[in-house]
Amino acid sequence: MLSRSSFILFRLLFSALLGLFILLVSGCSTIKTTQLPTGPTSTEDMVVTASPDATKVGSHILAQGGNAVDAAVAVQFALAVTYPRAGNIGGGGFAVVRWHDGESRTLDFREKASRHASRDMYLDADQNVIPGLSLRGHLASGVPGSVQGMYELHRWKGVLPWQQVIQPAIDLATEGFEITADQAQVFNRYQERFLDINHHDIPLTKKEGWNAGDRLQLPDLAATLERIRDQGPEGFYAGRTAQLITQEMESGGGLIDYEDLKRYQAKWRLPLKGTFHDYSVITMGPPSSGGVALIQMLKGLEQFKLNRYEHNSAPYTHLLVEVEKRAYADRATYMGDPDFAPVPVDYLISDAYIDERMAGIDKEVVTPSSDIKEGNVEVVESVQTTHFSIVDKAGNAVGITTTVNSYFGSKVWVDGAGFFLNNEMDDFSAKPGVPNQFGLLGNEANSIRPEKRMLSSMTPTILEKNGDLFMVVGSPGGSTIITTVLQTILNATVFGMSMQEAVDAKRFHHQWMPDIILHETNTFSDAVMNELKLMNYTFQDRGKIGLCDAIMVHENGVLEGGPDSSRGDDTAIGH
Ligand code: GLY
Repeated sequence: MLSRSSFILFRLLFSALLGLFILLVSGCSTIKTTQLPTGPTSTEDMVVTASPDATKVGSHILAQGGNAVDAAVAVQFALAVTYPRAGNIGGGGFAVVRWHDGESRTLDFREKASRHASRDMYLDADQNVIPGLSLRGHLASGVPGSVQGMYELHRWKGVLPWQQVIQPAIDLATEGFEITADQAQVFNRYQERFLDINHHDIPLTKKEGWNAGDRLQLPDLAATLERIRDQGPEGFYAGRTAQLITQEMESGGGLIDYEDLKRYQAKWRLPLKGTFHDYSVITMGPPSSGGVALIQMLKGLEQFKLNRYEHNSAPYTHLLVEVEKRAYADRATYMGDPDFAPVPVDYLISDAYIDERMAGIDKEVVTPSSDIKEGNVEVVESVQTTHFSIVDKAGNAVGITTTVNSYFGSKVWVDGAGFFLNNEMDDFSAKPGVPNQFGLLGNEANSIRPEKRMLSSMTPTILEKNGDLFMVVGSPGGSTIITTVLQTILNATVFGMSMQEAVDAKRFHHQWMPDIILHETNTFSDAVMNELKLMNYTFQDRGKIGLCDAIMVHENGVLEGGPDSSRGDDTAIGH
């Protein structure tokens, strides 16, 4: 067997010869592929997460002989301790995995509505949406899926004992960890809301305010994690933890009961696959809308020679926006939990449908969102969040996007159990035509039903190039997740950026409704802005968009981490 370093040397030689051959034969490729890494690199493995402590945990598990799945499970639990705004055991998420032998899988551990939930539960007597009810407090939570999800994932491919991969999170919760400046600022911003919802102090409340370097210990969470360590999912969905969750629900008029918890199941779903030039895209299908929209947009954009445009120029922005408007209009109409009504996935990503959708795009004229409706889809019967990416030394790759929805979810702290519950119910469409917190519209396909999963935008994605692992990518950001992932992929594949450059590049977003381009500060030069204004575009500066944590495998086998460190505390570690 070849050692990894001789294998890399061999690959390097092979790629150089292949590159020379392609250059001689084709003259010039439409896609640039020769990027050099500018982010952290390793020839062994790579872990990229939003929390420095969680990144260390993942890397440590790999050093102990764990694989990418072991590291992912350890990171998920560590984030529940050190990154409570989004890391969780009280929320849910999706995992996309590609094993070194080419097998790929996607796991759905999305939250679901309680058995007691109902279609109009957020409407008043006049059928108007009651502001905030799906966002804050006990009624906002779906049944959490993270613990079941991690158990399923570990059961499938984990090689280290379950106890060993959870222990680092328990240690962090018991011994405490130092909070960063960004965390101190976020904790301070939410003090009033924590107290408003919980009516008592929680470990994250502090009268004198938080400062960078303060230590946070979470003993109740440590005890909950110990129960999960010792009893598996039963340590969360039954016994003491279930009792604490249901007590919390009863105290605040929430719906989740013992039976809801007992019935929760994570689900392996067929990975959603598509192509973009030489790349194969492996991503999350429904109940995420992310994968469908991403593939629609990539396939649509393939029809335009994007590399002729300057990055973030006016014509490039216009094209992306036109494609985004169409994808988000389809999202609003057709997407929901496939266990409740068929989602016409195959149709939505079919070549014929995409051709038809792209036909209306004029490279110079803006199509107002009001003129764009969902496409004519033939429904065929058969048919704040955080992301982390891990590649291990065998080439196994895991991307997980996990969430409690808003920062700190519903803000409901499960007293005695030490964690926040999600407010994922807001991802349902409370009433057709009424936008949720992300301004997203929804329809019947995403209406509330007992035990239904709410539609998501989370888009953990893996790219292959010529059949080999090329990229693991994903981001938080609600509705902006999909366009963040899209732009990161385009930056690397069309504009030849390194992983770090692709992550660092400024982002913009359009979601059909409202008809406005959201952008990061300084995304567009004055000249580009003026050009877009002349086309009648309107804008909103959103400061920052997304926190994309990604990994690229270069042609010589070197792994490059792309932590979103210019926007957050995100870090990458490789051995
Ligand atoms: N809660 C954000 C999403 O799932 O899209």
